[in-house]
Amino acid sequence: MFIVLTGAQFGDEGKGKIVDFLSKDADIIVRFQGGDNAGHTVAVGDDIFKLHLIPSGVIYGKRLLIGPGVVMNPLFLKGEMESLKEEGLNVGPKMLGIDAKTSIIMPYHIEMDRLIEERNKDKIGTTKRGIGFAYADKISRNEVRLIDLIDEERFFKIYEDIAPLKEGVIELLGGDPAIVRDREKIAAYLDVGKFLKEFIVDVSYDVNNALNRGKNVLAEGAQGTFLDVIHGTQRWVTSSNTIAGAASSYIGVGPKRIDEVYGITKAYITRVGEGPLPTEINGRLGDKLRERGKEYGTTTNRPRRCGWFDGVLFRKALNLNGYTKIALTKLDSLAGMGPLKICTSYKLDDKILEYPPDDTYDLMRCKPIYEELDGWDDDLDGYSTFDDFPKVVRDYIRKIEEISKTKINLISVGKKRDQIVIKSD
Ligand code: GDP
Ligand code: IMO
Ligand code: MG
Repeated sequence: MFIVLTGAQFGDEGKGKIVDFLSKDADIIVRFQGGDNAGHTVAVGDDIFKLHLIPSGVIYGKRLLIGPGVVMNPLFLKGEMESLKEEGLNVGPKMLGIDAKTSIIMPYHIEMDRLIEERNKDKIGTTKRGIGFAYADKISRNEVRLIDLIDEERFFKIYEDIAPLKEGVIELLGGDPAIVRDREKIAAYLDVGKFLKEFIVDVSYDVNNALNRGKNVLAEGAQGTFLDVIHGTQRWVTSSNTIAGAASSYIGVGPKRIDEVYGITKAYITRVGEGPLPTEINGRLGDKLRERGKEYGTTTNRPRRCGWFDGVLFRKALNLNGYTKIALTKLDSLAGMGPLKICTSYKLDDKILEYPPDDTYDLMRCKPIYEELDGWDDDLDGYSTFDDFPKVVRDYIRKIEEISKTKINLISVGKKRDQIVIKSD
């Protein structure tokens, strides 16, 4: 069984929680894109795990893989391993495998991300982790891969070609080019390369092999559908493909091997960083939802922008990913919000749209058209079946199903592992 799981919105949909939930029955959990821009939270009992590069199956102690489509800051990864160790989770090479071809995020990538974000008037609001610049180097074939990092001779040979280019760009951007040849930083990278040598695997081979032997593999997406570098709200996106099909190409496994595609969506919507969010709630009501949902970035701690559930974007997410299962998360956070709105269409000039326009600048001009539903005050803690939910809650879920012509299968009503309702119809 091969399950691919992606975020159906702008990230932070609660993927970590659902990956943890599904990990119980998985043999392997594989991250296939993104880097430490991701922040996936798993709450087990009173413990909260915030994961950035390590797949969220770690708490169940399953085999974990980082695929070649990931961009990895090795110092950050080592730090993440050390903090997990303090929490009693020992992530050694028996547990974690990293593909040899995984791109390395170098210090100059982070510096370029910072300099360009600060310089641009029209900002993207990146996490400043160097993600876009590492992916750019992969595509332009100027990357350093994990396999290059563990071989000093090969590393310096590649570096001699890359370094002058990076120095030139950093200088042009008004930064200090010395960062490119900083001896201490390079030594630290080479050191951690030695440490990671034991973790190196061929992820495509391992995943195909596991599937051939009837094992269960779960591919964990990072970010969300509308942050996809091609299909998202360009240019306010991340730099990888975040939609389900990307799991196939980034991991190196045929698309016909995918059995289920899980889409994770909040019962409302959030976005961190710049870019269009048609159903954004401004003012006090937006602040109230942020406080109720504790909507602050897992990676950067920035306040997340909050909005009503956007059924128009959701229709597109269904097309882009071909979801076969939907998990609706954070339904509990809507308690006490008063009447609730669900966006069913947009108005663009004098046209009514059921589906988002292709161009981001048109999307920015769209005005949401809402259906208003009764809200609830009940905190939903303790419900374990759909039929037990108060009628207003069932009506809210049914409305999302009705406008998207899709069934919701899992409903999350709290951050903890057991706060999840399986809906059987
Ligand atoms: P991810 O990036 O998609 O994994 O999501 P994040 O971990 O960045 O953000 C989701 C946040 O919501 C985390 O703090 C989770 O612990 C929390 N969370 C997940 N599901 C629920 C839920 O159903 N209810 C509540 N109240 N919190 C949830
Ligand atoms: P998870 O996996 C939410 C956003 C950034 C910015 C844009 C580009 O936790 O859902 P980048 O640093 O990737 O170049 O920034 O993408 N972004 C995320 N937003 N959740 C994430 O990950 C994100 N990863 C990147 O805020 O708007
Ligand atoms: Mg997150």
